Amino acid sequence: MAVDFQIDGAVAVVTLNRPEALNAFDSAQIDLVIDAFRSLKGHRVVRAVILTGSGDRAFAAGADIKEMAELSEREGLAFGRRGHLMASAVETLPQPVIAAVNGFALGGGCEIALACDIRIASDRAVFAQPEVSLGIPPGWGGTQRLTRLIGPGLAAELILTGRRVKADEALRIGLVNAIHPPEELLPKARALAEAIAKNGPTAVRNAKRLVQLAVSGQQVSGLKTEVELFGRAFGSAEQREGMRAFLDKRPAAFSDD
Ligand code: CAA
Repeated sequence: MAVDFQIDGAVAVVTLNRPEALNAFDSAQIDLVIDAFRSLKGHRVVRAVILTGSGDRAFAAGADIKEMAELSEREGLAFGRRGHLMASAVETLPQPVIAAVNGFALGGGCEIALACDIRIASDRAVFAQPEVSLGIPPGWGGTQRLTRLIGPGLAAELILTGRRVKADEALRIGLVNAIHPPEELLPKARALAEAIAKNGPTAVRNAKRLVQLAVSGQQVSGLKTEVELFGRAFGSAEQREGMRAFLDKRPAAFSDD
């Protein structure tokens, strides 16, 4: 099972569980996450949700590069849209979602964490939007949500260089709210979820929507353009070289055309 799902009292824990690929999202995993979040929508008991990764290495190491490597432009666009659907299922869930980031949150992994309402992390967590090193722009909301969360200057630096951000820097720049030793991460996430779950459920749902409205601005048109440019990257020499180089375990050699 690539996504585990547990409900304990008012708190649901959704766990990305594809350890052989450091919990990277292939299409099947994306669909399972969408199904999990759809089943939580309107759930009468669950008042807060925790999203985390299995194992101690990764929250999610991104979209599955093996699946993406040979996609055509049309297929790349469809894959981007599928990721957008997943991010939207997380973001528009009426109940608040806490990302408990237990390791690598790279590319699509970081983007799904960004679609959550609150992020806390293990002190071993590492964040990045490394897509440009693979010859594609970020495609699951990172350009819009990261920019809104940490501001355009820093977001541009991280997205254009792909550089990795360790937990202490993530805390400093507001990418996460708190960092904890790995063994304390889930108990802390649960305590946060239970503190939310104690409050008036309708008030919490409305407050979640209102916080999102405060920053939504042009996000809808930004997301539309993002997924179009993500799709357009597929089939290009740049995307093919970037992803083949990752799979061949060698540095990519990009040319100008
Ligand atoms: N897709 C598919 N497989 C992946 C993967 C991914 N994103 N990330 C890791 N894996 C696989 C590796 O291929 C490897 O499998 P094999 O054993 O079969 O070779 C396994 O997971 C373990 O990975 P590594 O051997 O590479 O482990 P490491 O400790 O040396 O490095 C890592 C860990 C730094 C996370 C490295 O795996 C890595 O850089 N992964 C890719 C991260 C990345 O670029 N993510 C962005 C993807 S693009 C994207 O997400 C687009 C978007 O906007 C939606």
